[in-house]
Amino acid sequence: MDAVVAVARWLHFSGIIILVGGLFYARVIAHDLIPGFKPWGYGAIGAILVSGVVNILSKPSLPPHYYVWFGVKILLALHLFGVAVTYRGKQRLLTGALISAALIVGISEVLRYISLP
Ligand code: HEM
Repeated sequence: MDAVVAVARWLHFSGIIILVGGLFYARVIAHDLIPGFKPWGYGAIGAILVSGVVNILSKPSLPPHYYVWFGVKILLALHLFGVAVTYRGKQRLLTGALISAALIVGISEVLRYISLP
């Protein structure tokens, strides 16, 4: 099980690096999404989703307020994924998605902290 969790964490972080890195590059450096990024973005979203589910299923027992933070994280993740999938050139949306990504990373640290034994 430990190996599965380790692989899931690796997949989670790899997907996040590709997705958020690609959107950051698009917003800050290139001022548009790079042609050819979308298939990588879709793959990254799939990897983040699958590994996120494995992560949550691997947790033995969780305090009730864990699920409150987790719900907020999922809503922000849906915003991030939605912008990545539907982007048609509005840079303002990329800014919002990057703000969501920053909040998600912070919330994920809270999740880890409150779920430690
Ligand atoms: C719907 C998609 C997602 C699900 C189901 C999910 C689920 C999870 C779960 C259950 C954990 C373990 C937290 C803990 O240790 O208690 C985790 C860790 C983490 N997630 Fe996600 N996640 C998702 C999307 C994202 C996204 C989009 C980001 C970043 C933009 C992200 C960033 C992180 C980070 C940084 C950690 C590691 C926290 C740490 O160990 O210090 N997640 N995720």
